[in-house]
Amino acid sequence: MSNKMWGGRFTSAPDAIMQEINASIDFDRHLYRQDIAASKAHAAMLAKTGIITADDAAKIAHGLDTILSEIESGKFEFKRALEDIHMNVESRLAELIGPSAGRLHTARSRNDQVATDFRLYVRDTVDALAVLLADYQRALAEKALDHAGTVMPGFTHLQTAQPVTLGHHLLAYVEMASRDRGRFADARARLNESPLGAAALAGTSFPIDRDMTAEALGFTRPMANSLDAVSDRDFVLETLSAAAITAVHLSRFAEEIVLWTSPLTGFLRLSDKFTTGSSIMPQKRNPDAAELVRAKAGRIIGALNALLIVMKGLPLAYQKDMQEDKEGAIDALSGLSLCLVAMTGMVRDMVPDTVRLKKAAGDGYATATDLADWLVRALGLPFREAHHVTGRIVAAAADARLALHRLSLEQMQGIEPRITDAVFGVLSVDKSVKSRVSFGGTAPANVRREARKWLKRLDKK
Ligand code: ARG
Repeated sequence: MSNKMWGGRFTSAPDAIMQEINASIDFDRHLYRQDIAASKAHAAMLAKTGIITADDAAKIAHGLDTILSEIESGKFEFKRALEDIHMNVESRLAELIGPSAGRLHTARSRNDQVATDFRLYVRDTVDALAVLLADYQRALAEKALDHAGTVMPGFTHLQTAQPVTLGHHLLAYVEMASRDRGRFADARARLNESPLGAAALAGTSFPIDRDMTAEALGFTRPMANSLDAVSDRDFVLETLSAAAITAVHLSRFAEEIVLWTSPLTGFLRLSDKFTTGSSIMPQKRNPDAAELVRAKAGRIIGALNALLIVMKGLPLAYQKDMQEDKEGAIDALSGLSLCLVAMTGMVRDMVPDTVRLKKAAGDGYATATDLADWLVRALGLPFREAHHVTGRIVAAAADARLALHRLSLEQMQGIEPRITDAVFGVLSVDKSVKSRVSFGGTAPANVRREARKWLKRLDKK
C-alpha cells in the first residue's frame, strides 16, 4: 500500500530500506507535545477564520487531547511506516475522529509544522536548562561562601602561581555559567518567532491568521519570510553553540575535579554517591561522573559541528537533509542537562581538604610575587629590579630547601641589605590572599561579598 498521507500518485509502497532511511519517528517522537500544541493552535485558527467549521475544529481538538494522553500513558503505537511524529499523530487522529481529521492539514505543510515544533521544543529545552544552570550556580555560590577563606594554590601552566581562595575559584565558574545563561537567553529571544503558516515554502492562499497562531504558541510574532521560516535551522545552531560553550565550561571544571580527587593532589573528596570502584583494584575511588561530563562535551560539540556541516550546502527552501537536525540536537541538549545535574550534585557533595590545600598553596614559592610587590612598596624598587632580587631570594631558598618565609632575615639581607623583618608580614599564604582586595581579586572579603551577591540574585529568579 502506498502512503495514505502523500501516496495519491504512487502505485507501490516504498522499499524497506527507503522506509528505514526516511523515518525520523525514533527521535522526533520527542516532539509530540509541541506537535500537538501546534496542531491545536492551527485548528483553532482555521475555525476562527472560517476555513474549517467550528464542529470540525472541536473534533480535532478533542482527538488531539486523546492522542496526547495516549502518548503520555505509553498506549500510543508509533509506526515507522508513518515516517515521523506529524504523520503518526495525524493518522491516529483519522482513526479517532474520521474524515474531519483530514481538514487539519489545510493551509499547512510538514515543512512549517516541523519548523514550528522544533522551535517550540528548543525553546522549552532552553527554559529547562536555564533552571538547571541557576541551580548549578547556587550550589557553587554556597560552596564558595563556605570556602571564602580556604587558601589553595592558584596555577598557571599547571605550575604553582599565587595563592588564591577556593571560593574565588568556584565563583569563576559562577561567572561562566552566567554568561552561558545569557547566550541561551539571546538564542531564545531570536528563535521565538513562528514559522507556522509559511506552509510548504511560499505561504498560502487561504485567509489564515498567523498572528493568532503565533500568539497562541507564545511566539512574539510570525516569521516575516515564508522561505526563511521553513528553511533555516540557525536557531538550532545557535542553541547548540551555547550548549557547546557551556559544556566546555563544565568540562574544564570536571577536569579539575578529576585532578583534585586524585591522590596526586588530594585536594578534595567526593563521597560514595559520586564515586565508583574498580572491579579489580579494591582501593580505587574513581570520579566517573566528572570524567563523563568531560567526555560528553565531545558529543555536544560534535552535534554542533555535524549540523553546521549538514546545513552549509543547502539551497532554499526545505531539504530532507534538515531532518538530521534533530537527533544530534536532542541528544546534545539532554546530555547537557544530565551534565548540569551531575555537576551540581558533585559541587554539593565535594569536601575540600583544607589542610592539604593550604600546604600546597605554600609550596612552590607561591608568595614570591608578594615579596616582589613588598620590595616595590617598602623599598621603592622598580618592579623589574624587585622581580630580579626576588628571583635570587627564591633561588637561595631552593638551595637551602626552605619555604620563603623560613629563610632568615640575614639570608635575605645577604641578597638585598635594605630588607627589614616587616617582609615577613607578606610571605604567608593567608596574608597574600587577604591583600588581594582589588576589584575581582581573590581576597576572602571579596569572595564573601560576591558569593552573597550571587545568592541574593539567584534567589530572586
Ligand atoms: N520529518 C521531517 C523533518 O524532520 C518533517 C518534514 C518533512 N517534509 C517533507 N517535505 N518531507 O524534517
